[in-house]
Amino acid sequence: MRTKFSFLLIFFFIVPLALAELKPGFYSTSCSKAESIVFNVVQRRFSTDKTIPGGLLRMFFHDCFAGSAGCDAAILIDSTDANPSEKDASPNLTVRGYEIIDEAKQELEKVCPSTVSCADIIALATRDAVVLAGGPNFTVSTGRLDGLRSNPEVVDLPGPTVPVSEVLQRFANKGFTPKEAVALLGAHTVGFSRCSFFQERLSNFRATGVADNDMDQSFAEDLSRTCGSSSSEDPTTFLDHGTPNAFDNQYYNQTMFKRGVLKIDQALATDTSTAGFVSHFASDQADFQVTFSNGMVKLGGLGVLDNSAGEVRQNCRAFNRPSTQPPNKGRGQKPKDNKGRKQLSFPFNMFQNGN
Ligand code: HEM
Repeated sequence: MRTKFSFLLIFFFIVPLALAELKPGFYSTSCSKAESIVFNVVQRRFSTDKTIPGGLLRMFFHDCFAGSAGCDAAILIDSTDANPSEKDASPNLTVRGYEIIDEAKQELEKVCPSTVSCADIIALATRDAVVLAGGPNFTVSTGRLDGLRSNPEVVDLPGPTVPVSEVLQRFANKGFTPKEAVALLGAHTVGFSRCSFFQERLSNFRATGVADNDMDQSFAEDLSRTCGSSSSEDPTTFLDHGTPNAFDNQYYNQTMFKRGVLKIDQALATDTSTAGFVSHFASDQADFQVTFSNGMVKLGGLGVLDNSAGEVRQNCRAFNRPSTQPPNKGRGQKPKDNKGRKQLSFPFNMFQNGN
């Protein structure tokens, strides 16, 4: 009875209050040009570099899903001697696109100083980049604040050889369905990967002496040539070899032909819990785009900070008041438990299993 009462209290009272913070067009009066300024910066960059959607999508995912609080732009903070930041956590070392956020921020500060948060810029810029690459257009609610902490110790993301069951569990812990998880991984329809993330698949996979059986043989040979080239220490290749820069459902078709680059990409097509979604998205581009859009909206609502726990940074790479962050101690530090921060939690992580 008591539990039921608490649930009702949360549902009817706390939830609406919390969700009131984020809304479409949050800046329509305070900075009416905010969204067009961000779009123009992204468009300008995209016109000279068609790969930027990959960089921004990964930045958005890592900030919202893996950082200290959620979508709080903690990933943008530059490290100092006293405080290493999330940017320096190993899964984030190859995240790219920071200069796009800087450029948008500089332009916004000229027009409406201290108004538009860096967390909102990431969310808007990512959506715009997806649209420019031919992907779905979806409404990005705004009103996020920028976090006051950035701690590399709390960044927790699975590697590319993680089992499908673990990926689904991690997404479920944050309120995503398996179908949404598979759609979000469809972001690998753009962007690239370093060879070091999949090289073991190309020969002597798991000490078998041969390439991964789940990879098409001639594809493995192509990738071996790329990865063996001496042009770079750790060469890169597109994640979707069908239409590398287009935001479409080709990623799923590629994996159905054993042409998934990362082990996890290929595993989605073979694991019984996800194979159905992969073949469905491979033949139904429209439903992929709808499910992906819904997933992105959910992702953008994770751990959003309210007034008391955040700020609007003037420079996305530094806190307004550097002293707000207590020094990050050495390794082994426990993840921050968000005490003292109010967070939007429903519907995104209301059903978390408590850890
Ligand atoms: C949880 C499962 C996931 C794993 C294990 C994973 C792993 C990886 C790895 C290893 C790379 C290559 C990074 C590099 O070479 O620097 C990569 C790239 C990428 N990931 Fe994921 N990823 C996952 C989920 C996602 C999701 C949910 C999104 C977006 C919503 C995403 C977006 C991207 C993009 C766009 C790239 C290309 C980055 C670029 O071009 O710079 N990933 N991912």
